[in-house]
Amino acid sequence: MVKKNTCIFISGKGSNLKNLIKRSRDYNFPIKIKLVVSDNKEALGLNYAKKNSIPFLIVNTKSSNYENIILQNLKKYNISFICLAGYMRIISKNFLIKYRKKIINIHPSLLPKFKGLNTFSRILKNKEKKTGCTVHFVNEKLDGGAIIYRKSFFINREDDEQILKIKTQRLEYLAFPEAIIKIFRNN
Ligand code: GRF
Repeated sequence: MVKKNTCIFISGKGSNLKNLIKRSRDYNFPIKIKLVVSDNKEALGLNYAKKNSIPFLIVNTKSSNYENIILQNLKKYNISFICLAGYMRIISKNFLIKYRKKIINIHPSLLPKFKGLNTFSRILKNKEKKTGCTVHFVNEKLDGGAIIYRKSFFINREDDEQILKIKTQRLEYLAFPEAIIKIFRNN
């Protein structure tokens, strides 16, 4: 199988990155992780890139052309697919045009519900019965692109924000790889 050259964007812990690195070792998994991009030099997830000898790029988002630097590196590594895994920046329109339908994101709610930040507190406040995670294509609208895959669970009365986060992330480790398989199944 010809694997898609993929870049993972992170900002923090990188547990989804860790999981995708592991899954991408499967012969049949459709992506090969060629590059990791982080907007945060302290991101713990960078350690997974280092440990696995995956090239990484740390960008300084204070500089006005940081997205161009990313784009140059995507070209250098021949990247054709991008996964946002906890990346806390908005991708510009100019960038999106170059990678249309080639960027996916994972979000910790059942989209279209609870777009944006602080999802768990809002989910609890709203007394939702169910929650979960969503993998979707990235477009100009925040958490608004076409949904690829969702996974859900029932919320218990005693679940607090921390527990919701743990339960949601457990599902993310299944949903992200499943979504990637779904995208490339017929390619
Ligand atoms: C995930 O929970 C994801 O839903 C959100 O950011 C978090 C990243 O976690 N977009 P990690 O850095 O992969 O551990």
